[in-house]
Amino acid sequence: MADSYRAIARYLQSQTKYSPKIGIICGSGLSELSKTMTETETFKYKDIPGFPTTSVQGHKGELVFGLLCGVPAVCLRGRFHSYEGYSQQMTALPVRVMRCLGVKLVVVTNAAGGLNPKNDVCDVLNITDHFALPQLAGDNCLIGENDAELGPRFPPMSNAYDPRCSEIVASSAKALGFSFVKPSGTYCYVRGPMYESAAESRFLASIGGDAVGMSTVPEITAAHHCGIKVICLSLLTNAVITDPSDSRPAASHAEVLEATVKRSAQIQDLVKHIVANGAKE
Ligand code: 6GU
Repeated sequence: MADSYRAIARYLQSQTKYSPKIGIICGSGLSELSKTMTETETFKYKDIPGFPTTSVQGHKGELVFGLLCGVPAVCLRGRFHSYEGYSQQMTALPVRVMRCLGVKLVVVTNAAGGLNPKNDVCDVLNITDHFALPQLAGDNCLIGENDAELGPRFPPMSNAYDPRCSEIVASSAKALGFSFVKPSGTYCYVRGPMYESAAESRFLASIGGDAVGMSTVPEITAAHHCGIKVICLSLLTNAVITDPSDSRPAASHAEVLEATVKRSAQIQDLVKHIVANGAKE
């Protein structure tokens, strides 16, 4: 593994003029952000030796280098989920490549189910904590030999979300007048690909989850391990159903994509504002 992300980073460095400071990982339906980057250099995943490929509807498969608000950035258009059959190590690989390219901050977006009735569909949660159920059960990207050049054998996760990053999100949301951005939230990571049963959703809500989704935490774990700061924004695309007799439609990918269409442009504005401010730090 250690060889593969270093080799991929070396390959990309030989192909791009950029040394990105910021990494962007886009969730379902949220990849349009890379279209607002300028002076771009785009690499299809399939053309990058050793890079995995993705197949999910709403996810492209491209790595885009360029300037985002004048800041050198690299954007992953389409991420790797473990429900596609990738190992946790593989889902974390792009983050490790970013680290080898010199990235200092990653901004991760995702679409998630809302577990907390305090929040509304189309709210965006600034994630400040997580439950990683597969990881607790021993399925995570840090299992195996530790690459000590990247980070420690036993990294803490209690400080994975830097309060300074939350301040940047809050001040950007305020400047843009985006009252739908909530300052904190706990994301529950599940492997999927099925959406949760009603009982599982009640369980996740009762343990303190605000959002549930099938991505992001592997990348955050890898980023925190290797010293990259993290900002995570979860778009609540649907309210989870906690009562089997609830007559509202069950969760579906179509519903998820519909909500992302509605907020996509605003999330792009938010990320751009964050990048412009975050890069000053
Ligand atoms: Cl309800 N569950 C999960 N696991 N992922 C989601 C979701 C729900 N809504 C969007 N993504």
